[in-house]
Amino acid sequence: MKKVAVLVGSLRKDSINRKFAHSLGKLAKGRLDFHFVELGDVPMYNDDLLADMPAPVARLKSEIASADAVLFVSPEYNRSFPAVLKNAIDWGTRPYGKNVFAAKPGGLVGTSPGAGGAGTGQNHLKSVLNVVDVVLMGQPEVYFHYKPELFAEDGSVTDEATKAFLQRYVDRFVQWIERTSEPKVNAQP
Ligand code: FNR
Repeated sequence: MKKVAVLVGSLRKDSINRKFAHSLGKLAKGRLDFHFVELGDVPMYNDDLLADMPAPVARLKSEIASADAVLFVSPEYNRSFPAVLKNAIDWGTRPYGKNVFAAKPGGLVGTSPGAGGAGTGQNHLKSVLNVVDVVLMGQPEVYFHYKPELFAEDGSVTDEATKAFLQRYVDRFVQWIERTSEPKVNAQP
């Protein structure tokens, strides 16, 4: 089963983006193993810390490096994406030459209580993900207008149309990871 490092751009306990990520994880059960990467204890990026890398940074980098893919689940903050994600991305690309995102298959989704569904924030994040060499799936796009009544307490999707829409995303993401993963050096034919 492919391991997916999930980076949620919200630190709050009741984050709808975190809940949304868990709902996707349920839909991917048996095919993708979602691993939620902790971002709340990662200090703000500072070159001076590289010589003696703080433990949360080393953990962040190793969890992303060891994953088969990354999934960004991002709220929209002031028509962009939250600083907590930019900070994680910046750490992931340093020290120079040790970019853990390079050639990693990736997905990007997000949700908002507003009708825009975090789409403008995703567009900003897309441009950064391209620069850091994430092999980002472009379609389908998921700018999701969050409504609590579409989900059960355990994160399963109760609304059939929503379930089909999100299942399609998950199915495409599974295919995307298969298609874009670099062959392992020692893989047998
Ligand atoms: C927001 N929110 C927001 N929503 C949106 O659709 N477009 C926006 O530009 C913004 N801007 C914004 C800025 C800041 C600083 C905050 C804290 C919030 C509202 C946001 O979508 C809402 O708080 C979500 O619930 C945040 O996601 P989580 O934390 O629930 O995952």
